[in-house]
Amino acid sequence: MSMLDVLTNQQAVMMPDEYKYRSDDEMKRRVLDIKRAFGSRLFIPGHHYQKDEVIEFADATGDSLQLAQIAADNHEAEYIVFCGVHFMAETADMLSNKNQSVLLPDMRAGCSMADMANMKQTDRAWEQLTNLFGDTILPLTYVNSTADIKAFVGKHGGATVTSSNAKKVLEWALTQKERILFLPDQHLGRNTAFDLGIPLEEMAVWDQIEEKLITDQPLSRIKMILWKGHCSVHEKFTVQNIEETRKKDRDIQILVHPECTHEVVMASDLAGSTKFIIDTIKQAPAGSKWAIGTEMNLVKRIIAQHPDKQIESLNPDMCPCLTMNRIDLPHLLWSLESIEKGNPAGLIQVDETITKDALLALKKMLAIK
Ligand code: 13P
Ligand code: SF4
Repeated sequence: MSMLDVLTNQQAVMMPDEYKYRSDDEMKRRVLDIKRAFGSRLFIPGHHYQKDEVIEFADATGDSLQLAQIAADNHEAEYIVFCGVHFMAETADMLSNKNQSVLLPDMRAGCSMADMANMKQTDRAWEQLTNLFGDTILPLTYVNSTADIKAFVGKHGGATVTSSNAKKVLEWALTQKERILFLPDQHLGRNTAFDLGIPLEEMAVWDQIEEKLITDQPLSRIKMILWKGHCSVHEKFTVQNIEETRKKDRDIQILVHPECTHEVVMASDLAGSTKFIIDTIKQAPAGSKWAIGTEMNLVKRIIAQHPDKQIESLNPDMCPCLTMNRIDLPHLLWSLESIEKGNPAGLIQVDETITKDALLALKKMLAIK
């Protein structure tokens, strides 16, 4: 379900205004009290892009792959209050048991990239692409996609990927079929395929708005069909940012997320998931210099945690991911108090048939080590 569907089909439950007027100290105390009272019946996972005021209360933090694994492994918590975006909470709901409830503290916390592929577009694309290529295509989807796209991929024998396992999953997928349809992030698809030695000429782009395949090559050469989606946050890092950063300081190393464009990834020193970025800085020697190309909440946290290293954002004018930022301390407390009152708000409940098919894709990914 896209964010538009969520907000129009459901009565989007909004946080009452009173939370805006409560003091931070009081809210923090209440969050701690509720966490203490519920103990292991309550679990709060937090994505690395969440604000500090939320991460402070997370029982576990991680990148998308780690959070999916955590949701699959935790059978104890009755309530999983997911601090991240909508597709992550959907994934947690599908991977958790029936007796566990997943809540998203603000239903408006979507992901613009996930909304760049809907089912109508995907059915149209599949029809046209299978007309062009026959039964030679395996679909893969980045986890940054809606549950119904994951279900489509599962139904057609494919798998989900995250930024930390995309290479392994794509390697497997290429042993299954001649070519891959990669949804919805063209940049992660292109960067991963290139890393595996597939030249750019063997990649075409599927334009889901124009409903056409963009390539100047004979169809028989195409190995990757990249959905024309992108992350509006990571597209803001440019090669010009890299050139200016290197001009300022020749010793600085550039570390970016693979949702950045291919040109940016090529011009950088290293690229990897949020976990990779965190681990790389952790292992770097004191005094080393880094410019990081990813979401600002994470970059600011890394800077604060490593005063012995010189770290900056690759784009000095960068903002945080606006949808990740929707989860804040008042929304977290509202969500927890709704559980305490016995009337959980912001429940994420994926349809059973969609869950069944989407799990095929998710479990295939989790099985690839
Ligand atoms: P990670 O899987 O690296 O945590 O990335 C998730 C995401 O949404 C990046 O924009
Ligand atoms: Fe989606 Fe980009 Fe935000 Fe990640 S950073 S949640 S891909 S909009």
